[in-house]
Amino acid sequence: MIGHKFMGKAHSHAYRDLPYFFDTSLTPVLQTIAGRDEKGVEAAARKMGWASYDTDWRSLIERDDIDLIDIVTPNHVHAEMAIAAAEAGKHVLCEKPLAMTVEQAKRMVEAVKKAGVVHMVCHNYRYAPAVQFAKKLIDEGRLGKIYHIRAQYLQDWIMDPTFPLVWRLRKEVTGSGALGDIAAHILDLSRFLLGEFKEVVGMMETFIKERPLGEMSGGLSASVKNGQMGEVNVDDASAFLARFENGAIGVFEATRFAGGNRNGNRFEINGEKGSIRWDMENMNNLQVYLVDDEPGLQGFRTINCTEEHHPYAGAYWPAGHIIGYEHTFINLMAELMNGIAKGSSPSPNFEDGLKNQMVLEAVERSVQTGKWVSVSS
Ligand SMILES: NC(=O)c1ccc[n+]([C@@H]2O[C@H](COP(=O)([O-])OP(=O)(O)OC[C@H]3O[C@@H](n4cnc5c(N)ncnc54)[C@H](O)[C@@H]3O)[C@@H](O)[C@H]2O)c1
Repeated sequence: MIGHKFMGKAHSHAYRDLPYFFDTSLTPVLQTIAGRDEKGVEAAARKMGWASYDTDWRSLIERDDIDLIDIVTPNHVHAEMAIAAAEAGKHVLCEKPLAMTVEQAKRMVEAVKKAGVVHMVCHNYRYAPAVQFAKKLIDEGRLGKIYHIRAQYLQDWIMDPTFPLVWRLRKEVTGSGALGDIAAHILDLSRFLLGEFKEVVGMMETFIKERPLGEMSGGLSASVKNGQMGEVNVDDASAFLARFENGAIGVFEATRFAGGNRNGNRFEINGEKGSIRWDMENMNNLQVYLVDDEPGLQGFRTINCTEEHHPYAGAYWPAGHIIGYEHTFINLMAELMNGIAKGSSPSPNFEDGLKNQMVLEAVERSVQTGKWVSVSS
């Protein structure tokens, strides 16, 4: 694993917990974790159960006793690391967004295909049982033809103007702001549930233009460096409209300025025969409305997706014994282990990451031109 903070912790935990819940074809061995700061990576290795640590990520790629490289570093180094790993014949799991640009994402897809390695992108939210169940209902035609999706990813962790200028607010490290960081997740959910985007038109805003320099200290917390100020050159908020290949239309909003919303990753889908709603902050539940319900009893019902009928839920506890954020990663890792055993790349893989990047870039182009932009152009 390369990187050892927020996602380092989420992924390490998932690898360790995986064998407790799933009988996968392969079992992960936590061999080596890499980071630039020796004290930090040594402490992380000890706490998170890694056999060793290294301060140079390239040495992991050269080792014969490592089969999988997991990239949990900021976005600007994903391409370099993933391509080097693939060229050395390692399977690759990469955090989202896959890359900084479509051009980078294309090179990453080429590299993993050429090397014949297994690849995945960590869009973990599609592995919530309630989201998987939503997909099953849509695929079975229970909602009929889909008309609408409205999806939001609302956070509020940078609203304080004194919150420092961390890597997530610097274009050269992150690519884009709320768009690539959190809209990328609702784009992935939309592609998973509805299929491909056709065209988009968007807008972006940066509310706080300057902040004190600082760095992430784990999770979504940060520390100020030296009191110097720097320019915020990414979006604090992005919104866009979309048309899908299947004729549905979508309304999307991603912001870190929605006070009171800590991790409001939500969608509602309306079809000719019913509607569904999901909210990450209440992630075990799926709300379902079916037009065929008896008159007088019609309305959204709440399904607690913790039963064996709900994908992945049967691997955990008895019905009603809810699971959490970390289990979305465990479910994804289970697919990754089985994928490596079979030699196939489960979705979301690098090709999904590329398609996601194409939508992100189309939104940015539309903001620059003020026009609708075709996603494939
Ligand atoms: N799937 C999700 O829900 C989710 C959530 C948060 C972050 N992410 C993604 O995960 C990735 C990491 O985010 P994070 O929140 O864990 O960041 P973080 O700041 O908490 O941790 C980043 C880690 O990368 C290391 N690092 C930074 N630059 C490096 C370099 N050049 N070489 C080697 N190591 C380097 C840092 O030392 C640190 O250990 C990002 O791509 C982010 O978009 C995904």
